[in-house]
Amino acid sequence: VRSILFLWSAEKAHYLAMDTLKFVLKIPLLRKLVKGKSPSGSTTIAGVTFKGKLGIAAGFDKNARYINELAHLGFGFVEIGTVTPVPQEGNPKPRLFRLKKDEAIINRMGFNNDGMDKIAKRLEKYMDRDIVIGGNLGKNKVTPNENAPDDYEKCFEKLYYLVDYFVVNVSSPNTPGLRDLQDKDSLGQIFDRLFAKREELYDGVRKPIFLKIAPDLTNDQLDDITELVNSKGIEGLIATNTTISREGLKTDKSIVDEIGAGGLSGKPVKEMSTHVVKYLRNKLPNTPIVGVGGIHSVSDAKEKIAAGADLIQVYSGFIYEGLSLVNGINSEC
Ligand SMILES: Cc1cc2nc3c(=O)[nH]c(=O)nc-3n(C[C@H](O)[C@H](O)[C@H](O)COP(=O)(O)O)c2cc1C
Repeated sequence: VRSILFLWSAEKAHYLAMDTLKFVLKIPLLRKLVKGKSPSGSTTIAGVTFKGKLGIAAGFDKNARYINELAHLGFGFVEIGTVTPVPQEGNPKPRLFRLKKDEAIINRMGFNNDGMDKIAKRLEKYMDRDIVIGGNLGKNKVTPNENAPDDYEKCFEKLYYLVDYFVVNVSSPNTPGLRDLQDKDSLGQIFDRLFAKREELYDGVRKPIFLKIAPDLTNDQLDDITELVNSKGIEGLIATNTTISREGLKTDKSIVDEIGAGGLSGKPVKEMSTHVVKYLRNKLPNTPIVGVGGIHSVSDAKEKIAAGADLIQVYSGFIYEGLSLVNGINSEC
């Protein structure tokens, strides 16, 4: 299946595969045949109980269109988004590239998404569900950084009763200036707003809010994050997003240069993201950490868990390895 899908452009292949899967799973016999191993056991972090340890990372189901299908394949949780207040087309195509030699992906999607209203409507269908859904939040490209807290707050309020946990995403490299929001003051303002809003919306459950960080942060910047987690009471970290680095790639430099800007994911980001998980785990022994970046095998998954991750997510590894990765992780982690 992968060989056929890889004949298509990466973005077309993604939607072709998922729409075909959606169709196939409506046919009872095929539904039984195309099924991943269900997650076993459960992990509770920040008050949310996740089935197994494996989720699909943000960006795969940006618009909450494939939640049932991803659950059927064996994912214990789906992080939808990144969601912005107003729908966005994202960057011009092509904007998603495979680096097969490196088992990697470069993307500069730019938060293409249907916007919070449409996505919230779709999520209403999943009120009674058996899978954990995370809401990954971002800001619109046209929103200046000083108004970023407004965008995060709008999406948070819209999705509050529809998802189980939230993620503040300030680490995607494809929205100009977004990663500047990773500094202590900007992040502090965003979290203050969300925590205050949460008290207003409180209905007996305080939905936890996690922070997703880049793998490119220096140890000093990670120390700032640690301080912020302690001072603000941020309930968890997702480590990591894609990297802007292009170091150590096997793909010809000319090809990489021609692709241009974007976030690199998959095997080349594994060590960087594991370093971040390990570093943060040492500094924050009790803070939940979701490890993501370059998990392409059961042993990669075990490595992230050994580094300190409570849960793990995959994106690129699922593109390259398919269902066997999910089955392996659900059997052995
Ligand atoms: C095509 C693509 C789109 C992505 N979109 C988002 C996104 O919208 N929000 C986000 O937080 N991360 C996004 N990511 C990052 C992933 O969630 C993940 O953090 C990163 O790819 C590292 O994991 P991996 O090596 O398993 O792919 C995207 C990744 C890819 C490949």
